[in-house]
Parts: sequence; C-alpha cells; structure tokens
Amino acid sequence: MCGIVGYIGSQNAQDFVIDGLEKLEYRGYDSAGIAVNTGKDRFEIVKKVGRLQNLEDALKEHPLKGHSGIGHTRWATHGKPSDVNSHPHFNKDKTLVVVHNGIIENYLELKKDLQAKGYEFISETDTEVVAHLLDSLYEGDLLEAVKKSLKIIKGAYALGMMSISEPDRIIAARKESPLIVGLGKGENFIASDIPAILKYTRDVYLIENNEIVEIKKDSVKIMDTEGNEVSRDVTHVEWDMEAASKGGYEYFMEKEIYEQPKVLMETLNSRVDENKNINFDDAGLTKEYLEGVRSIYIVACGTAYHAGLVGKYIIEKKTRIKVDVEVASEFRYRNPVIDDKTLIIVLSQSGETLDTLEAMKEGKRHGAKIVAITNVVGSSIAREADHVIYTWAGPEIAVASTKAYSTQMMILYLLAIDMAYKFNKITREEYEHDINSLYDLKEHVEKVLEHSENVEKAAAKILDQHSIFYLGRGLDYMIAVEGALKSKEISYIHSEAFASGELKHGTIALIDEGVPVVINVTQSDLFDKSVSNIKEVAARGAYVIAIAKEGNTIVEEVADEVFYIPAVEDEYTGFLSIIIHQLLAYYLSKLKGNDVDKPRNLAKSVTVE
Ligand code: F6R
Repeated sequence: MCGIVGYIGSQNAQDFVIDGLEKLEYRGYDSAGIAVNTGKDRFEIVKKVGRLQNLEDALKEHPLKGHSGIGHTRWATHGKPSDVNSHPHFNKDKTLVVVHNGIIENYLELKKDLQAKGYEFISETDTEVVAHLLDSLYEGDLLEAVKKSLKIIKGAYALGMMSISEPDRIIAARKESPLIVGLGKGENFIASDIPAILKYTRDVYLIENNEIVEIKKDSVKIMDTEGNEVSRDVTHVEWDMEAASKGGYEYFMEKEIYEQPKVLMETLNSRVDENKNINFDDAGLTKEYLEGVRSIYIVACGTAYHAGLVGKYIIEKKTRIKVDVEVASEFRYRNPVIDDKTLIIVLSQSGETLDTLEAMKEGKRHGAKIVAITNVVGSSIAREADHVIYTWAGPEIAVASTKAYSTQMMILYLLAIDMAYKFNKITREEYEHDINSLYDLKEHVEKVLEHSENVEKAAAKILDQHSIFYLGRGLDYMIAVEGALKSKEISYIHSEAFASGELKHGTIALIDEGVPVVINVTQSDLFDKSVSNIKEVAARGAYVIAIAKEGNTIVEEVADEVFYIPAVEDEYTGFLSIIIHQLLAYYLSKLKGNDVDKPRNLAKSVTVE
C-alpha cells in the first residue's frame, strides 16, 4: 500500500525522504513523489510513475535542496498510476502540499463543491481534494486549516501536509491509516511505517486515530482534532535494521523462509515458560471465561485466513470445541451471529488490514471479546483488540507472507493445547508431549530447508505451465490452499487448491498431459485415499509432485517426484510441508525473473477495502 515519509531538520530533506521511501518499497506501490521547501515561493515537486528509481533518476537531474520535505509511494486506488496522479498533491500555486494514505470517501461531493468555487483539478485522485480544501480554508495557519478540513473529510487517512509560508513545521493527521513520528536530535520524521526511519532513530510516537501532530525540527506536539494537546509515551523500537535487511540473501522472501526455525522458537518461547507451562493469562482466555463462550470465530484475510483454517483444525481436534473461520471482508457484511458470549480471534501479520480491522470492530459492537494475533506491536488491530498475542516473526518485508503464517500457526497450536488441557481433554503428560513436539519443529524445519536445491530443480520443470493444481485431504488440504496462494501471487501461474476427494466432482476435467499437480500426502489415516488420488491424476497425464513423510516410499511408485519431510505426528506435518510449498513458489517466481518480493498488483499491508 501507499507509504509516507516526511523530514524536518537541518540536513537535506530529500536524502532522508528518498531513503525512507526505499525502506517502504516492500509495501507495494506504482509511483512515487516528493515535495521540498527549497526556499522559493512555491514547493518544488517531482513525481514519477513506476519504480522509485525513476524518481531518483529525475532527482539526479534536478536535486531538491531544502530542510523540510514530504514524500510518498502510491498504490493506485482512484485513478491509474501516472505522474500526475502521484503524490504529493498541491493547490494551484503550489504553496500547500499533501501526501495521503487511505481513501477520502466523500471526495466526489467535496470535489463538486470546490469546483463550484472555481478550483480546478488536474488529477483523478481523491487526495487532490485535500489540497484544494486546505487552500479554501487557509488563513496563514496550516494547523487551523487542517483542523477545519478534518471536520469535513470523511474516510480513512494518514496525511502529511506543508505550507510554503510556514517552513518550520509539518502537520500530519491520522484516522485508520497508520502514522508514526520518529524522534531525532534536531530533526524529526513522519512515516507510515517504522522501517522508514529506523536508520535514524528507534524512538517513535505511535499516533492514534483522530489525532493531529505538529512536527518541528526540535519539537513534536500531538493533539486531538480540537487542538488540545495529548500526551504520549515514547515507544522504543527493539528490532534493528538488520532484521529489516536482506542479510546476504537475494530476496527478503528467501531470508524469511530460512528464518522460520528461529522465529518459530521465539514465538514458542514467548508463551511457554521454563517449567513447560503455556501462559495466555494476559489474553483473557481463562478457563472460567472459556466455559462461558458459546461460539468461536477466527477472522482474517489471505494467508492469515489460511493459518486460521489450520487453527480451526487443531482447536477442534484437541478440544472438540467448534470453531468457524471466516474471511474478514465477508464476515463484516454478512450479519454474523455474535453476542457477548462470542470469542473472535483475529489474525493479521501487519495489524493494519482494513477488512480485518473493520470485521473486528463489528464483532466488538455486538459485545464479542476480541483476541488479536498479530506481528506488529502498536498496530491498529493490536490497539483496538481487547487482548493481543504477538507472533515473534520479526519484520516481514516480502509481500508474500511466510514466517508470519507459520508463527500464527504456532500461536494457534499453543492455544489449542492450552485449551485442551484446561478442559481436561489431555493429560499433563500429553500436554508436555505436545509442547515438546512443537520444540522439535526447529530441527525438522531446518531439515526440510535442506531440500531447497531439489525444489528449485522441480520448479524449473514446471515453469512454463499455465496452471498448477494443489491437492490434499484434511490438514494436507489446508496447507495446499496456502501453497497455491504462494505460487499464484508471486509466480503469476494460475494455481488452485482442491480437496483431493473433490477433484472427481468436476476439476479433474482440467487434468491433462503434463499439468503439474502438487499433492500433500502426510496424513496417515488418509494416506491410502491420497495415493489413489495421485493415481487418478497420474492416469490422466499429470506431472505429480508429492510431499510425504519419510518412510512412505510407496509414493515414489505413483508420483513423478517426492519431497520427504521428517516423520512427525500427523498434526504437525503442516509446519514442514508448507516449507516445500514456500520454496517452490519462491523458485517459480525467481526463475521466471519476477520481482519476488514485490509481486505485481499486490501490497504488503492492505489498508483499503
Ligand atoms: C499473501 C499475503 C496476504 C496477507 C493478507 C492479510 O502472501 O501476505 O494474503 O496474508 O493480505 O494480511 P495481514 O496478515 O497483514 O492482515
């Protein structure tokens, strides 16, 4: 999604803004721009469609020298990607500039009003109305004009704004879209995400909804929308730039796949103490509370939704308590049955996904308790939830989610084991056995990662195919669904998952000579049936890549290729088979020459509906 960076201090603003925008590139964007107060009577603005490099090239020709500036990477919503639709937007005489993340919902109405007053629009964006609206309300004090504008604007926004006649300040505002302020010495920053400013400071203010901030070189003032000062503790960011850099890997995705043994253990250790006790006390999930719960929903989008499917499987298996998993964008509009006896577990890596955030608010309005499982401290979802359980994946930069997914699964397994024990569904011995099985995953995942080279070879063989089918039964199916999403989003090969038993009800018509079928066959009780499914597709010419447990060599007789994972108990195989899927998607994308970390049309955190 869009990114915002602003700088005010004594150094050259352009350098900081561009550097910050580079750090936000992973979020996905299609154009970029910058405005700097260069001491002239109007802002100097450079905007370029395409990669940030295009903007950097333009700035080499025409550098902007000044001590304050705002920049933006845009992910098109209103109007196609183009130079003119890129941010910053400005008023007619370029004395006011605006960068914006989010959507101004009443922009058409505002545009009409402003046009009636003689304002001319040059872009197709919703953001341009903010520039003209500010102009119509500006009487020499940008803060006052912003306060008035925010009473008129409807929608979601993080805004950064400057006036040429007030060179000593940047004004920013937030409603729904994330915004932070970085605190430097003799310089301060605004940004939509922490990595943008982490090179310069680890001390930040997390700006809340309906707040305005005045950022000067030596001071930061946070206010409510009336201008009353609000106090805020400084948040010190613990992780550093190394965690947000490639560390020798070619792509972030590759690095993040390889980080999984480590981050799975960090997530596990965050909730299990030295006496092998799982602790979710702070998540409000006491036995007393759980006894009163009538329904449990897991709500999320995309990959997080797929982790939710696995969550349902393991919670139901261990506790025999029913769980519904729903896609957030549907859940929020389908009037689900929710009351104060409902527990909603939301899953979100970024903690900013608008659909998930709104679904969660809908649940809250009906009295449900909300427990959020998220990776980003201080994110909107973390702040709005009743309780938060953090995954310890560290910053996930590649658009395609890998380590966030497996750490979400880890938390859900811990919840399932904890609940099962609280409800006497498992003995202390079984409880400890389950926890040990989770600890053993480190070694097993490391072993699966050793297959990397062979997975690359398998990817090379199916690279030119138009479709890949992913199959599985039970837990294997839930992992297949995530495998297919990984493949389609970064390889751009049509990839679809089906429950193996469902294939014969229609989809098998698509299986033809050479069509790749990737099938998980790791569930013992479904093994024979899965082998039959392999035979069915093989008989129709499919090129079968199977993922099976070590020892099940019979699979070699029916599949074209087999990747073996350690023979763990059935309920833990997902942590291992997903690694093969992630590597396969990674190599398909890389071998096709795609931008693995920044696939087309996608964004890292989806803050629009
Ligand atoms: C796919 C992917 C997306 C996200 C989805 C939800 O690799 O990353 O499907 O999982 O957009 O994002 P979060 O987890 O940030 O709410």
